[in-house]
Amino acid sequence: MKKLSARRRHPLAAVVVLLLALAATGGLYAAFAPASKAQADETAQSLAIEEGKKLYSVGCASCHGTGGQGTTDGPSLVGVGSAAVDFQVGTGRMPAQQPGAQVPKKKVIYNQAQIDQLAAYVASLGAGPIVPTKNQVSPDGADIAKGGDLFRTNCAQCHNFTGEGGALTNGKYAPSLEGVDPKHIYEAMQTGPQSMPSFPDTTMPEQQKRDIIAYIQTVNSAQSENPGGLKLGGLGPVSEGLFAWIFGLGALIAVAIWVAAHTAKAKKS
Ligand code: HEC
Ligand code: HEC
Repeated sequence: MKKLSARRRHPLAAVVVLLLALAATGGLYAAFAPASKAQADETAQSLAIEEGKKLYSVGCASCHGTGGQGTTDGPSLVGVGSAAVDFQVGTGRMPAQQPGAQVPKKKVIYNQAQIDQLAAYVASLGAGPIVPTKNQVSPDGADIAKGGDLFRTNCAQCHNFTGEGGALTNGKYAPSLEGVDPKHIYEAMQTGPQSMPSFPDTTMPEQQKRDIIAYIQTVNSAQSENPGGLKLGGLGPVSEGLFAWIFGLGALIAVAIWVAAHTAKAKKS
């Protein structure tokens, strides 16, 4: 007994107690902290799904069904993935209004937080393409020339050489790609909205998608500057060649006529 109280009074006793207490707290923290962080993520996720479900029942269920199974007015959303929702709602296509050849872009009525919640809910119905990260859509370090090649082989038949867009059959159209958010370009390729085919990573790897995004952004900024003057619709060599023929040749002919008329006058006098 005497021995213990003697040790308690030892000058190092306080330090030893402090160290023991610290080790115990650290150990407890290590044991519980990671679990509670994972738990917090999980609760946040299920909260988003919960909120998304509420938004969905008000704005989407009438056409897509109460559980996303689809109705005669809208397709099933099971397995379309968060990327499809982010694209459709983020570009204002959804919620659709009246039936027509193609659902048009409209004013976006949900904010990004609500779109994320809707996307979380739809993703919880079945796995599908996921919303890309900032890095996945960044044009930094992408190969613009290669993107141009890929664009001409895969996209230009509908969207035109520089993404001006164009008419398709039965009143459908491929929209202009000018000013479209890179994230939405990526998602359009992943999910293939309406009559556009999809380009999943198996046929078009992530890097190629980035090259295409970089190309679209480059031609768009080049077009708004237009160093050569009038952009002639950006329709490619045919329209630009035609322009040269009509106006270039027209000007030459006009000059020839003018010269001829003046020589004739000069001869008379
Ligand atoms: C008036 C009916 C209507 C409403 C309301 C509506 N949709 Fe749609 N939705 C459609 C139709 C029709 C299509 C199919 C368009 C097509 O592909 O031609 C569609 C397509 C979609 C697609 C693409 C599916 C795919 O296969 O890629 C998504 C995602 C989607 N809707 C989400 C939503 C969400 C989220 C809401 C609520 C904010 C919503 N929709 C509200 C009718 C509707
Ligand atoms: C068969 C014709 C076709 C091809 C090929 C095609 N698209 Fe599309 N694209 C469309 C149509 C039609 C739409 C409109 C869909 C809608 O409104 O839901 C569209 C929409 C888009 C949009 C959305 C634009 C916006 O205003 O929100 C982007 C981005 C896009 N396409 C990019 C591409 C890229 C990149 C490629 C090549 C990898 C490509 N498309 C190939 C027909 C096509």
